[in-house]
Amino acid sequence: MLVWSVGRQTATLWVRKIHQTGYVDGSYKVDKFRKFENTRGDTHLADVTIRALQKSYGGLQVIHGLDLDIPDGEFVVLVGPSGCGKSTLLRMIAGLEEVSGGDVMIGERRVNNLPPSERDIAMVFQNYALYPHKTVAANMGFALKMRGMDKAAVRAKVEHAAGILGLTPYLDRFPRALSGGQRQRVAMGRAIVRDPQVFLFDEPLSNLDAKLRVQMRTEIKELHQRLKTTTVYVTHDQIEAMTMADKIVVMQGGRIEQVGAPLELYDRPANVFVASFIGSPSMNLIPGEIAQGMVDVGGARLPVPVGAQAEEGQKVIYGIRPEHLQLVEATSPAGLTGVVAVIEPTGSETHVMVRHNGLDLVAAFRNRVTLTPGSAITLAPDAASSHLFDKGTGQRL
Ligand SMILES: Nc1ncnc2c1ncn2[C@@H]1O[C@H](COP(=O)(O)OP(=O)(O)O)[C@@H](O)[C@H]1O
Ligand SMILES: [Mg+2]
Repeated sequence: MLVWSVGRQTATLWVRKIHQTGYVDGSYKVDKFRKFENTRGDTHLADVTIRALQKSYGGLQVIHGLDLDIPDGEFVVLVGPSGCGKSTLLRMIAGLEEVSGGDVMIGERRVNNLPPSERDIAMVFQNYALYPHKTVAANMGFALKMRGMDKAAVRAKVEHAAGILGLTPYLDRFPRALSGGQRQRVAMGRAIVRDPQVFLFDEPLSNLDAKLRVQMRTEIKELHQRLKTTTVYVTHDQIEAMTMADKIVVMQGGRIEQVGAPLELYDRPANVFVASFIGSPSMNLIPGEIAQGMVDVGGARLPVPVGAQAEEGQKVIYGIRPEHLQLVEATSPAGLTGVVAVIEPTGSETHVMVRHNGLDLVAAFRNRVTLTPGSAITLAPDAASSHLFDKGTGQRL
């Protein structure tokens, strides 16, 4: 262990030398870093691999045997409702929680039993407590100083990170004199200066107001496009997941429901849970039964969604996103007729809640509609954009 650790430090120092002699900006630096890795033939250094991973607290199991592959350089978002195990999974990757079963690998290394400091990761939390009595520069450089890096080298790293994050004018300020967004950037700066193999974020934007959250999510995405460091990002916010991720991992109850690119999940959700979790307003889910080759949803008979396979008499759930419902004439055969309950203009779209056969359906229209609450309308689903799930298992058909 000691030999390994010393060897690695030497290697790290050598990488830092390369950085100091030749970098112009973040991307160039990373390219240098990668070339260095490649000379060792070690091209997958920052893959994160999770195998049959389990976690129990006492007798309570909260992570139920997860498998997940996070390729080098990818931005992966773990998303799911509160309590589904996102932070627990992230903290096991970080080494802040013990693993109850299975493996966590970073590159070729099984890191289950390595302390966080030896995993070459950097984590940014929701509560990113900065040292109040240290300047921005001192906050950002603290970990490097603790590692024994010399002053000039720390300063160079801090200035470089500050440049990336737009913090250069604030380096001598104290955290109390910064806005929430600037403080969050300092917390990211603290992670960036460490040149980790993997960034881990746990709901880093939750404490910011809505506008700043949108701005920061763009900044983090841009940062990733520049540094290309493998990133695992936790959020309960599906919009954050959709907008930021290369790949989304949807979790529920300590299990993975689906893994895929944002639009894959949106266009082909694997089950009812993912269908209802991804997308806002949510997908309409209408219980029904296959009858004479149609989906009988009680109030109407709808064509079977394109590509779906179901048997006569099978109990199903018919899914249709709000933007895939069209306003049609009341006489239209495959239409859902209901009464307008609420109209919500958002500016770019108008959301209309329609009460149909005891269900509340939501339709979203891009063009302006003149409707009044209490009036009857008919909505026709687009069969090419509708979904079908088995009612018992919830799985896509
Ligand atoms: N230290 C702990 N002791 C007992 N149960 C815990 C502990 N930490 C988390 N849990 C439980 O594990 C589950 C997953 O929690 P967590 O990973 O924090 O969820 P998320 O981050 O998705 O909101 C929850 O049911 C939570 O109550
Ligand atoms: Mg959490």
